[in-house]
Amino acid sequence: MADLRNNFVGIKSPNPFWLASAPPTDKAYNVERAFKAGWGGVVWKTLGSEGPPVVNVNGPRYGAIWGADRRLLGLNNIELITDRPLQINLQEMKQVKMNWPDRALVASIMVPCVEEEWKAILPLVEETGADGIELNFGCPHGMSERGMGAAVGQVPEYIEMVVRWCKQYTRMPVITKLTPNIADIRKPARAAKAGGTDAVSLINTINSIVSVDLDNFAPNPTVGGKGTHGGYCGPAVKPIALNMVAEIARDPETYGLPISGIGGVTTWRDAAEFMVLGAGNVQVCTAAMTYGFKIVQEMISGLNDWMDAKGHRNLDDITGRAVPNVTDWQYLNLNYVAKAHIDQDACIKCGRCHIACEDTSHQAITSMVNGVRHFEVMEDECVGCNLCVNVCPVENCITMVGLDAGTLDQRTGRPVDPNYANWTTHPNNPMSVQAAE
Ligand SMILES: Cc1cc2nc3c(=O)[nH]c(=O)nc-3n(C[C@H](O)[C@H](O)[C@H](O)COP(=O)(O)O)c2cc1C
Ligand code: SF4
Ligand code: SF4
Repeated sequence: MADLRNNFVGIKSPNPFWLASAPPTDKAYNVERAFKAGWGGVVWKTLGSEGPPVVNVNGPRYGAIWGADRRLLGLNNIELITDRPLQINLQEMKQVKMNWPDRALVASIMVPCVEEEWKAILPLVEETGADGIELNFGCPHGMSERGMGAAVGQVPEYIEMVVRWCKQYTRMPVITKLTPNIADIRKPARAAKAGGTDAVSLINTINSIVSVDLDNFAPNPTVGGKGTHGGYCGPAVKPIALNMVAEIARDPETYGLPISGIGGVTTWRDAAEFMVLGAGNVQVCTAAMTYGFKIVQEMISGLNDWMDAKGHRNLDDITGRAVPNVTDWQYLNLNYVAKAHIDQDACIKCGRCHIACEDTSHQAITSMVNGVRHFEVMEDECVGCNLCVNVCPVENCITMVGLDAGTLDQRTGRPVDPNYANWTTHPNNPMSVQAAE
């Protein structure tokens, strides 16, 4: 059995699966049920300042995108931070932490960008016994209009300033949660590091309108005839989140900064992907909201089985393992050559690969041979783009096969060069080293 115990900036949990700050972590009732189901930790639904709590809309707050089988792919919400009184949340957090000392309990906080506000709330949170705090610099709707959430996360100077206050006024580890609604994710991450953050977590939700009600001419979800942009999350955002995690993990300025990976984690495999790209653990929201708390059991057993099968003993064995293999386009090996290959036994002769290649790629797949439907790759035309692999409805029916060095590439008429060569030295590159000589 692989050891799934997680130590994230000194916060210990029996596994790396935490619930992200959101409705699943809004109250003791939920969190207790989540811990019973097996979650390693939670980030409590974001707390605001003492005083009258925020007010949510009393109508629909979600919109969604579905796959053809009605499986939820993307979720959009216009919910604010917790609308429960601060004192009640704090009391419940204290009780839950006492009942579940081995689980991680992190408090998410969002108060105005004023030093006194942060100074006031931190001791109250510390008193609950929470293991750490997460700064919500990500909420893209409602709170950002009030100068909080993403409004802070989009200004690196503010991030650095608030992180500094938090490091000054609490001994709890500080996790800075970043907004993806920014051009270059490395900048807020660097600012958080400069302020002294112990870690970053990402992503929060993405600005989005998921659909428009064409009868009422208003975005969904529609509240009294009007809609607003919401925050997008769920499986659809995973690719964006993975890229942002990798960007921070490989940036020399933030290299080694602990990362909590968030965004579309639904299976153990998603979690493993975040972790090999540099995340020390993962947080989950939409998958729990869609399938319930027990989904964590499949995540735990799946991760464990994969690690056992591959001989990975603990999470340190996998964290960041793929980071050295993430590079810039200019460093990809231009001498590498692959060709598509169709398994004729698996092919159901639907023709999708042919039409995709014929209309939009390189006219490299037959459709008819001797008057019979037959789909086969013509190696002398195939550029190896793998579009056909992605449109084929039969998994593993089309595979990409790398050509060995020295083999003749029928398209170019040249043998495959065994040497690595990239764009920086390519003769067609006006900026290349060779061209400069
Ligand atoms: C309904 C809803 C409410 C959320 N509320 C918060 C919040 O209060 N604080 C916060 O930091 N993130 C909040 N989030 C964002 C999630 O914590 C998480 O970053 C995001 O949903 C991406 O993860 P996922 O794809 O697993 O859902 C909320 C998400 C949803 C769907
Ligand atoms: S890899 Fe690209 S070029 Fe080759 S057959 Fe497939 S779609 Fe056509
Ligand atoms: S898309 Fe796949 S199944 Fe369909 S014809 Fe091409 S190889 Fe066969």
